[in-house]
Amino acid sequence: MRSKGVFLVVLLSALTAYYVYLPIPNNIEERWKLMLTDSIFRSLSHLAELTEQLGLLDYMRVMMFITFAERVVPVSDDRVQVVDENFEGVEVIVYQPAQIEDTGELKRAIIYLHGGGWCLGSSRMSPYDLLARHMVTELNAVIVSVEYRLAPAFHFPIPFEDVYRVVKYFLHVDVLRSYHINPERIAVSGDSAGGNLAAAVAQQLQQDSRNNVHLKVQALIYPVLQALDLNTPSYQQNQHMPILTRTLMIRFWSEYFTSDKSFFRAMMTNTHNNPESAALLKFVNWSSYLPDSYRRSYNYSAPPVAIGNNPVHSFASFSWLADPRASPLLVPDKTLRLLPKTYVLTCEYDVLRDDGLMYVMRLRNAGVDVTHEHYPGGFHGALMFTVWPTDFEIGRKMIDNYVTWLKLNL
Ligand SMILES: *[C@@H]1O[C@H](CO)[C@@H](O)[C@H](O)[C@H]1NC(C)=O
Ligand SMILES: *[C@@H]1O[C@H](CO)[C@@H](O)[C@H](O)[C@H]1NC(C)=O
Repeated sequence: MRSKGVFLVVLLSALTAYYVYLPIPNNIEERWKLMLTDSIFRSLSHLAELTEQLGLLDYMRVMMFITFAERVVPVSDDRVQVVDENFEGVEVIVYQPAQIEDTGELKRAIIYLHGGGWCLGSSRMSPYDLLARHMVTELNAVIVSVEYRLAPAFHFPIPFEDVYRVVKYFLHVDVLRSYHINPERIAVSGDSAGGNLAAAVAQQLQQDSRNNVHLKVQALIYPVLQALDLNTPSYQQNQHMPILTRTLMIRFWSEYFTSDKSFFRAMMTNTHNNPESAALLKFVNWSSYLPDSYRRSYNYSAPPVAIGNNPVHSFASFSWLADPRASPLLVPDKTLRLLPKTYVLTCEYDVLRDDGLMYVMRLRNAGVDVTHEHYPGGFHGALMFTVWPTDFEIGRKMIDNYVTWLKLNL
């Protein structure tokens, strides 16, 4: 009996150690807290893989638990008025200064797009609710937090189109007037997959000749910007980093596009490009667009491409791979040149670091005014970790710097 008990304790400790311990670089602050937080994510991810393999529940259905666990009901308080609205069939939450605080002055506006790999997340998660409230009071702004529909139930381009419909509706002069918004002080912003949607929306909007209200700024927080090369140095360096592993990011990408699991496997080996997307590889060539200090000892080799009738895989018809509404890095300089002032936040320990770095370089080459904030001890998703017990100092720092930038530039 006793030895069985000892055996169980040893087994449990080994399992816990296996789950909790992760070789995390020393310059990441609060390492143990991050390991613990990440172990929750990893356990859930393993459970999700299991239920998917057993045919019980799809991976993303299980991962949605994180979204539900952090869900709140956004309500008004003495400083912030919160209203659920429906803009052109899309749910949004509008946060604005409470009437009492209203000085009659025209306000700024921020259209905010939450992260979660287009598959998870909600504007009703507590960190997003807190961020929106904070921005209302700090910036005297109206925040439109968009509850776009999610993959895999709604594949690309639906999440993008939901966001774009909201933005076009909101930018009507009458709508702006009804919220007392200054049409010259409007931003689009988002984190992670929300940063992807924000970048894509900003590009489409500036190219739309029927649009007369222009964005003042776009603010992109560790954005996802391209699906063509999933072996950039940051994907290689950070493939097992906390919160967002390379495998999870590739799951998000493939689920955004299709439920065909062979596409996921092709993306894992970076052999998913087709002739149409291959023609755009030059726009994500990290051997040209990464500063030396980030290229380090990594050697560039262009992702292989299906040629003629001997395709590596049969994804030749997947035209969304070359679509800049999914991969905003895939546009020529003349499109970038139209973009407003830009803020880009990147983290060293993030598979998406190089997407952000390349966008910074390409935007600057095109003459766009870019503020780039890089966090040498930063990890993906840090901005979401502001609520006890998974609160991190670096998350608070990021929010402070981001909001300060908006205060000065929006
Ligand atoms: C990437 O850039 C390098 C030079 O920096 C060049 O030699 C190579 O041909 C380029 N590859 C692609 C696919 O654009
Ligand atoms: C890149 O190539 C050089 C020279 O061939 C080699 O020494 C180095 O190990 C390679 N780097 C990686 C990350 O494979």
